[in-house]
Amino acid sequence: MGLPGASIDWKTRRANMQNVCLNCHEKQWVDNFYVQYDSLVELYHDKFAKPGLELYALAKPLLVPVEFANKIDFVWYEIWHHEGRRARHGASMMGPDYTHWHGTYEVAKHFYSEYVPELRELAHANASSGDAAKAEAAKKLQAKLDEVLSSTNHSWYINKLDPAEKERRAKAAEEFRKRYGK
Ligand code: HEC
Repeated sequence: MGLPGASIDWKTRRANMQNVCLNCHEKQWVDNFYVQYDSLVELYHDKFAKPGLELYALAKPLLVPVEFANKIDFVWYEIWHHEGRRARHGASMMGPDYTHWHGTYEVAKHFYSEYVPELRELAHANASSGDAAKAEAAKKLQAKLDEVLSSTNHSWYINKLDPAEKERRAKAAEEFRKRYGK
């Protein structure tokens, strides 16, 4: 659009924004906000966006080759385009309800209760396909799915959470209840 700001990179934009914050807040307060904000974005990327996209690419050869002709097209689209975006934008705008209930909660709910089951079904239905290319694609999809679900981010879902981590979480939950449960 020929606007003068078009060539300003994101690092300069971020520094300029932080300069605005510093008019009212001290530096550590502002830095802490950005640690929290960046961590949320990275968590979303590493846990859902990146593996989700890889799985989607592997599912493609098993789908009707028309976008939005498959249930999984809608499921994946809403995870990244609606829910994932709300989570990240909610964090950037300090809106906890959008970050959590309209964001990461829905991302997780649909990833585990819709996306993964659809992918499993696709891999299962095509595993013994007469079409060798489809059978091969199903094998690759299943292998990636196993890899993703066994990773530390998702292993709880297949009941393979490291016992020490399980213990740590139970303890943290107990402490939280003790502190806030009155
Ligand atoms: C014009 C002054 C002003 C500017 C500029 C400003 N803030 Fe604030 N900020 C405030 C005030 C006042 C509050 C407390 C509002 C309240 O408690 O209702 C606040 C609250 C906050 C909170 C606490 C929110 C919460 O839910 O408890 C954070 C975090 C924060 N600001 C970060 C930032 C960041 C990051 C920027 C820059 C992107 C920024 N602020 C810019 C005045 C400002």
